[in-house]
Amino acid sequence: MIDAGAGTGRYAVAAARRWPDAEVIAIEKDPVLAAAARIHASVANVKVRVICSDYLDVQLPRIPGVTAFVGNPPYVRHHDISEGAKRWYGDRMARLGLPSSLLAGLHVYFFLQSFLLSRPGDVGCFVTAAEWLETNYGESMRSLFCRMGGDSLLRADPEQPIFDDALTTSVVTGWTTGSNGPVRIGDFQLGVTHPGFAATHEQLLALPKWPAYGNPLPPVAPAGPKLGDYFRVSRGQVTGCNPVWVANADSAKLIPERYLVPCVCDAQDIIEANGVLRRSDQLKRVIDLPADLGELTRGERVRVDEFLATAEAFGARDSYISQHRTPWWRVGLKSPPAIIMSYMGRRPPVFARNAAGVPILNIAHGLVPTAPISVSSQNRLVAWLNQNVSVAAGRTYGGGLVKFEPREAMRIPLPPQAVLEE
Ligand SMILES: C[S@@+](CC[C@H](N)C(=O)[O-])C[C@H]1O[C@@H](n2cnc3c(N)ncnc32)[C@H](O)[C@@H]1O
Repeated sequence: MIDAGAGTGRYAVAAARRWPDAEVIAIEKDPVLAAAARIHASVANVKVRVICSDYLDVQLPRIPGVTAFVGNPPYVRHHDISEGAKRWYGDRMARLGLPSSLLAGLHVYFFLQSFLLSRPGDVGCFVTAAEWLETNYGESMRSLFCRMGGDSLLRADPEQPIFDDALTTSVVTGWTTGSNGPVRIGDFQLGVTHPGFAATHEQLLALPKWPAYGNPLPPVAPAGPKLGDYFRVSRGQVTGCNPVWVANADSAKLIPERYLVPCVCDAQDIIEANGVLRRSDQLKRVIDLPADLGELTRGERVRVDEFLATAEAFGARDSYISQHRTPWWRVGLKSPPAIIMSYMGRRPPVFARNAAGVPILNIAHGLVPTAPISVSSQNRLVAWLNQNVSVAAGRTYGGGLVKFEPREAMRIPLPPQAVLEE
């Protein structure tokens, strides 16, 4: 048994206790943890060979029996992976004819290395973050999982964090090298496992994302129209500091009326619109000053300078966004989209036609038609979307929140009769 990224050797010691005849090898890169694993095994009075090495560099002799790969690989995001390791991963994936992703975390590399070290009939079980089931960049891991002989996925309840130090959903994966059998997909909640359903590799690979905790296998999306065939979906405006740029009673007194722009600043604005956002007078207003303050009258300029001094004292000038725009105070609201949608919550997204013609902050996404579409078609579409889009089309985050990234929203299937007239 190989404990990949063994830490203090919890899995290795448990395995050696349970199967005293097995050869147990713990592989850990950190010398202090490797030493702790050795002490752990010695105190537990079991035989574990601890190798202090990078798992990606390990070579294993062939053995006559079955090897089991076990572990909860490190949760290291791509930013912190060395260039050398990235090259190793890209090169090995290419040799397998699989797509690689620059955004893959180190756990993906651990799967790959386990596969490369294994022989047909070997088995494996890793617990990892589950985002690769659902993200676009997870596609390469999903292909690898099928190639490895993935045969089980146990999705953990997102409300129950598995890793103390990472707010992420988790999944327990199982594979048998060389198998092409179906994948059993189930759920894990409060220590109890719930068997779910089985799906073939072909069925899974045909999906743009795999079903998250609690969700069944979705029907293969019909070849019909998608939201993205008619609309470009994009994020709302980032201000860099909402407490400053969303006007309050005090700041509104200092800013000329023409730079106070009613804006969708809260998902509640969309929910309460009930399909059509008609009024702008109840919305909060965003301070959208011009780049050239020379266009202000002298009196206006004195008050705006006072506001900017307060904003600066509040730290608004130091935000990442302010530092990357010129001048730092110019929020630069994007033009109002035709339809707006909430994209984050514990409920399906809510859509509304933007009859008020207001811009949106990044609590919402905007749908802009790629060709002219009549108002009545837009109304029908919004009503259909509000009735038919389910949370399963989004992406589940730790804690159970569901988000729709713009690309996921563009993949929302529309009814075949959704021919939107000009
Ligand atoms: C999430 S911990 C798992 C520890 C152990 N399985 C447990 O549950 O206590 C991941 C371990 O992998 C180790 N690690 C990180 N990168 C590694 C690499 N490239 N090769 C081997 N071990 C690595 C870390 O030091 C850490 O101890």
